[in-house]
Amino acid sequence: MSLKMTSLLCLVFLHLMMGALGNQWNVTYKQRNLCAVKGSTVVMEANYTYPKSVNVTNRFWLINPVRDVEPTDLRNEPGYSGRVEYLGDKQNHFSLRLSDVKKSDENMYCFRFNTTGEGYMGFPGITLNVTGKMKELSHQ
Ligand SMILES: *[C@@H]1O[C@H](CO)[C@@H](O)[C@H](O)[C@H]1NC(C)=O
Ligand SMILES: *[C@@H]1O[C@H](CO)[C@@H](O)[C@H](O)[C@H]1NC(C)=O
Ligand SMILES: *[C@@H]1O[C@H](CO)[C@@H](O)[C@H](O)[C@H]1NC(C)=O
Ligand SMILES: *[C@@H]1O[C@H](CO)[C@@H](O)[C@H](O)[C@H]1NC(C)=O
Ligand SMILES: *[C@@H]1O[C@H](CO)[C@@H](O)[C@H](O)[C@H]1NC(C)=O
Repeated sequence: MSLKMTSLLCLVFLHLMMGALGNQWNVTYKQRNLCAVKGSTVVMEANYTYPKSVNVTNRFWLINPVRDVEPTDLRNEPGYSGRVEYLGDKQNHFSLRLSDVKKSDENMYCFRFNTTGEGYMGFPGITLNVTGKMKELSHQ
């Protein structure tokens, strides 16, 4: 085989590899650690990739995932009712907007999506920390 042919095959192989990687299961978070002031609104951003062979059926966020335990949509989690808003688009971005942040919101937040095949969760997720009011902070 000529050297030219070999390098051409290498290029083709690389190209195929890159394409395959782009179609892998993955979740990327914009930030892994967030800090919010009590009472404020915080936005957590994720994007994701998945194989072309499946379609996404459901997207949601959850807290403190435990292996082998059915994931609970954050909107159905006690204490979060009415404070959770999802913002998604067709470019595989999916954000969580949490309002009126409380101290008890200090949890790990993970994005999960279900498909016609298996599901996938981005772990570890985003760690949220909540501080007192700005006023209290400036008086310390
Ligand atoms: C997921 O995406 C991130 C950032 O785009 C990348 O660094 C990481 O290697 C990817 N993981 C997999 C399993 O493809
Ligand atoms: C996902 O977000 C990361 C970091 O913000 C960015 O580098 C990447 O291009 C995004 N991927 C997609 C598919 O939007
Ligand atoms: C995914 O959606 C496309 C377009 O609606 C459809 O043609 C295809 O059959 C679906 N694939 C699966 C695995 O459901
Ligand atoms: C997503 O898939 C998981 C695992 O199969 C299942 O427990 C969960 O109920 C599904 N969630 C939704 C909203 O479909
Ligand atoms: C920050 O929040 C995480 C949970 O999201 C918690 O485990 C940790 O103790 C918090 N750190 C501080 C300094 O409060």
